[in-house]
Amino acid sequence: MSKQRWGSRLGVILAVAGSAVGLGNFLRFPGIAAGNGGGAFMIPYFISFFLLGLPLMWIEWTIGRFGGGFGHSTAPGVFDTMWRKNRFIKYFGVIGIFGPVVIFSYYTYIGSWLLGYSVFAVTGKYAEYTEAAQMAEFLQAYQGLTVNQDFSGLGTAYIFFLITFAINIIVVGFGISRGIERFCKWALPLLLVIALILVVRVLTLGTPDPAQPQNNVINGLGFLWNPEWTALRDPGVWLAAAGQIFFTLSVGFGVILTYASYLRRNDDVALSGLTAAATNEMSEVVLGGSIVIPAAFAFIGAAGVEAVAQQGIFDIGFITMPLVLGQMAFGQLFGFLWFFLLFVAGVTSSISLAQPAIAFLEDEFRLMRREAAVLFAVITFLLCQPVIFFLGHGVLDEMDFWGTTVCLVVFATVEVILFGWVFGIDRAWTELHTGSDIRIPRIYRFIIKYVTPVMLLTIVISWIVTNWNTIFYLEGVEAANKPFVLLTRVALLGLFVFLLLMVRIVWRRRPETTTPEGEL
Ligand code: PHE
Repeated sequence: MSKQRWGSRLGVILAVAGSAVGLGNFLRFPGIAAGNGGGAFMIPYFISFFLLGLPLMWIEWTIGRFGGGFGHSTAPGVFDTMWRKNRFIKYFGVIGIFGPVVIFSYYTYIGSWLLGYSVFAVTGKYAEYTEAAQMAEFLQAYQGLTVNQDFSGLGTAYIFFLITFAINIIVVGFGISRGIERFCKWALPLLLVIALILVVRVLTLGTPDPAQPQNNVINGLGFLWNPEWTALRDPGVWLAAAGQIFFTLSVGFGVILTYASYLRRNDDVALSGLTAAATNEMSEVVLGGSIVIPAAFAFIGAAGVEAVAQQGIFDIGFITMPLVLGQMAFGQLFGFLWFFLLFVAGVTSSISLAQPAIAFLEDEFRLMRREAAVLFAVITFLLCQPVIFFLGHGVLDEMDFWGTTVCLVVFATVEVILFGWVFGIDRAWTELHTGSDIRIPRIYRFIIKYVTPVMLLTIVISWIVTNWNTIFYLEGVEAANKPFVLLTRVALLGLFVFLLLMVRIVWRRRPETTTPEGEL
């Protein structure tokens, strides 16, 4: 079975950028930035970009292409080829399949709310609501947490979920170039155009309420952009910034690595990785930063924005934004554009979360692409059910915690150390520049070898020290939710062990050495 390939250079960049540009850019970023004091957040954010995000972006492109040359598109195989002498490293690679599967299982469901809300915006289903409390109740009824005149159960949400889930599976079922690449080639430009329209609309809002002149768009931008140096001393802000950088760039999960494995040996990775990262950052800080925060600021002011942000990242998107947009002329249209933007951004990201598991089934079990997609659909469909039906019991949060926080830091740390130390920085640097169209500043040799791993290890250690007992004893989880959270944990552990066994079985069956393609 010959390996799938990207059709064009632009295609792979758009696919990687599509993975990166997601709900993280338009919802999570403004939410986290506002929740951490706006301007106080941006300095650690940019430092994390240059010292953690960008190096990892290059690392994943490079090791993905390297592993792809040996017929591996997922982390177990890639890590194994990078460190042949170590029999255990491939098991760390399992995180790079497990994490994306877990994230996919709730990310797709959240994506489906956005499809639902796009429809509600156009049809004016929530148009009569002008108070945050009413919008909050609308959202909760939609999610099946309460019952009201709008929704009497999960039926509507479930239908939108099925549609969104099916779209994802169909796209990945068509494969790398005919599915993912073709989809991202129109979806990414489309979403950037929609975002731009919304930015223009928000930036021309001025001062909506003359009685409250300080609540205007300019002050909203100032809230995000006026740097506040004192916050640099707060480790919490650093953690939040680093976490956001990883999440938004999709690095440290195993997803970009899989995409890069479909490159050819001499395809550039240095410039392409940089372009994808830059596209994401532009759409995050320029576009994502110019919609929610200034719009909400103009209508509800600084205190309002911070208060909403404290309540969680969804409230701004699902409660504040529809209310704010509803007050404008053509509010229904702008409401639709907002939710549809998020929906499209969500799909280009969730398909990238699906690909590692599918690739694993294809490469290591020799399944056909369609068979792999169906098997993936069955497994993740089951995983989605507790997320949907036990949303109010903390299942989604628990999956988010393991999928993004825990898997991410461990996986990213393993990647960096493998690249800079085991593979060796000299070889790594040569590999990164093979076929490259730019030369990366040499300072990055130093950053990749020392700075990134030290920062990551500091994050891991300080985080474990401060959090382990909270996590272990489920502190902070409501008593009534504990059984649900524990069961989720056990189920996730089961899935992880299952994947470990799969890797063990596959490697036992395999002849000892694999040669790069073409060298046989
Ligand atoms: N980067 C995506 C976003 O910003 C989320 C994502 C994380 C996608 C990890 C793939 C892997 O929404």
